[in-house]
Amino acid sequence: MTAVPAVTGTATAEANPNIALIKYWGKADAAYNLPVTGSLSLTLDTAPTRTTVTLDDTLAADELVLGGVVQAARPAERVRVFLDLVRALSGRTERARVDSVNLIPTGAGLASSASAFAALAAAASAAYGLGLDDRALSRLARRGSGSASRSVFGGIVRWYPGDDASSYAEPVPADLDLAMVVAIIDAGPKTISSTVAMNRTTATSPFYPAWAESTTAQLDEMLAALDRADFTAVGELAESNSLRMHATMAGAWPPVRYQTAASIALVDAAGELRAAGVEAYATMDAGPNVKFLCRPDDADRVAAHLATVDPGARFLSARAGRGVRLLGSSE
Ligand code: DP6
Repeated sequence: MTAVPAVTGTATAEANPNIALIKYWGKADAAYNLPVTGSLSLTLDTAPTRTTVTLDDTLAADELVLGGVVQAARPAERVRVFLDLVRALSGRTERARVDSVNLIPTGAGLASSASAFAALAAAASAAYGLGLDDRALSRLARRGSGSASRSVFGGIVRWYPGDDASSYAEPVPADLDLAMVVAIIDAGPKTISSTVAMNRTTATSPFYPAWAESTTAQLDEMLAALDRADFTAVGELAESNSLRMHATMAGAWPPVRYQTAASIALVDAAGELRAAGVEAYATMDAGPNVKFLCRPDDADRVAAHLATVDPGARFLSARAGRGVRLLGSSE
């Protein structure tokens, strides 16, 4: 998709989740979701969110329906705040009904705020008649959830730090075929939201300045590794950056810990696979599940070994996927 056309009324968009290889963890500005550092991710080809936004003047308030269930409280409030922003940008006042489904419910924490806000940004901007190009759409999605700025694009994507005008994501051309095996060990809700956890980490972890400095350096190294299609360096940087993020959180007070004993056993399994000659690198986000970066030809072997380490886990294999797409819109 190159641009969201200026049509109004109703619009449907679909977006995929992305997994960061160099993580976003910390806001320079919470109101605008401006990150402290740049980050880089892989958009997956699985678990899309499909969202329809329908303007409706008869509604007393915006309505959010997730998987057919009307939502109250925080998810609905977050969507209302986002729609207020779209209304302010469009100069319109209509309330809207937002109907969102995760097309492949994985229970993996993959039905994330990234795919949700990328799909919502595309559908809402089309329904309210904002004619946004992809860069403007990425900036808008960022306001809903930082990582959503990256799901606007497919493949490998970089998100820039900066101010409201300069903090957007864009694709990074790379001559590497990547696969990701997602080990789902716990489909339950997060113990603490990523927003709350990252704010606590920046405010209280004495390791935070070192995290920001090393992430900026690792992002540069990652871009250089991608440029020379060096899979090993990409994997090593991704695993190291994830471990550093979780170490930085452990230094917060109260401490933030998403890794469980089962997660750590799986992270160790990446080392076992490498010792056996299969390159797999582990990365974790704001939850206990572990994602493994590997070459597409190795994905089955990686999943088979992980299943011996954690027979209770479920596995999902993904490749690089597309960016957000508008499926339809009308007056
Ligand atoms: C660990 O984008 O969910 O997945 O901007 O507060 O909505 P908010 O946070 P969010 O944080 C994602 C954190 C992460 C790392 C990453 O995706 O870069």
